Amino acid sequence: MKINLKIWRQSGPDAPGRLVDYSIDGIDQSQSFLEMLDTLNEKIIKDGGEPVAFESDCREGICGNCGLVINGVAHGEKGACTTCEVRMRSFQDGDTVTIEPFRAKAFPIIKDLVINRSAFDRIMAKGGYVAVNTGSAQDANLLPVHKDAAEAAMDSAACIGCGACVAACPNASASLFVGAKISQYTWLPQGQVERSTRALGMVKQMDAEGFGDCSNHAECEAACPKEISIANISRMRREYTKALFAEQGS
Ligand code: FES
Repeated sequence: MKINLKIWRQSGPDAPGRLVDYSIDGIDQSQSFLEMLDTLNEKIIKDGGEPVAFESDCREGICGNCGLVINGVAHGEKGACTTCEVRMRSFQDGDTVTIEPFRAKAFPIIKDLVINRSAFDRIMAKGGYVAVNTGSAQDANLLPVHKDAAEAAMDSAACIGCGACVAACPNASASLFVGAKISQYTWLPQGQVERSTRALGMVKQMDAEGFGDCSNHAECEAACPKEISIANISRMRREYTKALFAEQGS
């Protein structure tokens, strides 16, 4: 099949960017979206051009590295999947596909389709962990966790930190990401020790990084490849408010 592409090209963080037209023939419907970009890059290199910079790692929906805006939708219109899981059978012969990077002030463009998501790392460093005594492995039943709590924690922990929630939100809010990361520990006994400092630290860092606030558009939930619920945002707000009162009262 033949695919026409409009791809965002930008040589560096401060360089002006623009959509560049490409046309590529012989694409197999069983190819993944990223394999289609690989094929394009082989053609560009053969013609002596600069290949399109884009990110990927696992290529199976696990690492969260591959986010692209495809035809105006973060990770494409299929829903509940990452860019690397999109297959070319989703498109028709002769289609024109527009590809852009995730756009947000807190995610500056490095080159072409590659963005800097280190803001998420700095938020995680403020509380996205549990402190435990190291040593030999604990008995598996030493810290019982209720099945419902374990499943709720796993649902929140499904977040792969891709940033689609930020790209889809009209406010470029990271509330779904931060809400999921706070929630996954809130459900577990191991997460109780740093519960307050985690909520305060992560929310304050989210604000400091320049992400917008949540105004309940729920675009984040629709774009999330792991279908993380916006109930995580409500939980984040409760955790943050409680921690704030506790901090002011102490
Ligand atoms: S490359 Fe890892 S989730 Fe897409």
